[in-house]
Amino acid sequence: MKSLNVELGNKSYDILIGSGLLDRTADLLCEAVFAKKYIIVTNPTVDKLFGNKVKENLSTRNLPLDLLTVPDGEKYKSLDSAGSLYEGLTACFAERGTPILALGGGVIGDLAGFVAATYMRGVPLIQIPTTLLAQVDSSIGGKVAVDHGKLKNKIGAFYQPHLVISDTDTLRTLPQKEFANGMAEVIKSAVIRDISFFIFIKENLTAIMKQGGDIIEDMVFRAAAIKASIVMQDERDTGLRNILNFGHTIGHAIESVSKFKISHGQAVAIGMIAEAKIARSMGTFEKYELEELEKLISHCGLPTRMPEIDRSSILRAMQHDKKIASGKIRFALPRNIGDVYLTDTVEPDIVREAMED
Ligand SMILES: NC(=O)c1ccc[n+]([C@@H]2O[C@H](COP(=O)([O-])OP(=O)(O)OC[C@H]3O[C@@H](n4cnc5c(N)ncnc54)[C@H](O)[C@@H]3O)[C@@H](O)[C@H]2O)c1
Ligand SMILES: [Zn+2]
Repeated sequence: MKSLNVELGNKSYDILIGSGLLDRTADLLCEAVFAKKYIIVTNPTVDKLFGNKVKENLSTRNLPLDLLTVPDGEKYKSLDSAGSLYEGLTACFAERGTPILALGGGVIGDLAGFVAATYMRGVPLIQIPTTLLAQVDSSIGGKVAVDHGKLKNKIGAFYQPHLVISDTDTLRTLPQKEFANGMAEVIKSAVIRDISFFIFIKENLTAIMKQGGDIIEDMVFRAAAIKASIVMQDERDTGLRNILNFGHTIGHAIESVSKFKISHGQAVAIGMIAEAKIARSMGTFEKYELEELEKLISHCGLPTRMPEIDRSSILRAMQHDKKIASGKIRFALPRNIGDVYLTDTVEPDIVREAMED
């Protein structure tokens, strides 16, 4: 097992990463937040895979447990689902000190986290992420949210967990497409912060794509460490955290114009390449770096070319996105692999050109 400490004063917490951690849940929980009762929030897919394992493990320490489920899918990351969870919590007699264990991917983590932040003005939250995206990204940093109508992730809070338990064995059952989605965020973290990590991914990609073993533990640890270090320096997302948006400015626009038919990871993959091209037009990022990035993305089974979507609607969507500072589109652009900078001086023509290419 590897561990990371997210140092945020009295909101500090540990991220534990490794194989077999679900079989140690009870011990890990008791150390972090001992309580009379725990509530798991999950969905039927994840419950079927790992629900019993966690339940059985907690029963070895006689830790009382209730389990609440919401249906599987982004559309259930909603205020309605939050409402049914509040009712479920009340029916289970959950109190101020009753921890919620968010067992699942980013949807469950964001929703259960939002409920934990708001039920009785806040109950302890333990993230138990079971997707690659959730282990390297969404479970770290304390952003919790639900969607509402067209507002994606706009109803939310900053609410740090007490503990994150990332059992890397859970990734073995992840559909390949979901694993690839997570790889987009892994590659992003390497490009913005760590060239040696980029080389590590490249050199170990065949083993990584098997979705298990020590190599996955190392990879999840390194990607999570990058996210954690950025979050520690900018907990409330007022500056530095924007560098995590590499690939996301164009990526989010592609996602939303495609009406979410193109997945987040796929959109970010295409976004990273388009934004790397923008970086080249702005005078940074070498041609061979762009080629290396394209190769790595495509070897993960992610797309590298813009979809057949009207470019001007993507540009319009970007102008509506949250990354706009003073009317200009803000980009996180790579200087080199491993180094990124923020800018809002990119002219729309350069963006258009990068998308045409
Ligand atoms: N809070 C943040 O900082 C942050 C950051 C990035 C993304 N997000 C959010 O995360 C969400 C996406 O998360 P996601 O990609 O994990 O999607 P997801 O939670 O929908 O999980 C993807 C699918 O995999 C299933 N699944 C989960 N674990 C599994 C396993 N081990 N084996 C087999 N199937 C499994 C899920 O049931 C689901 O069907 C979005 O809502 C996004 O907004 C939040
Ligand atoms: Zn993302």
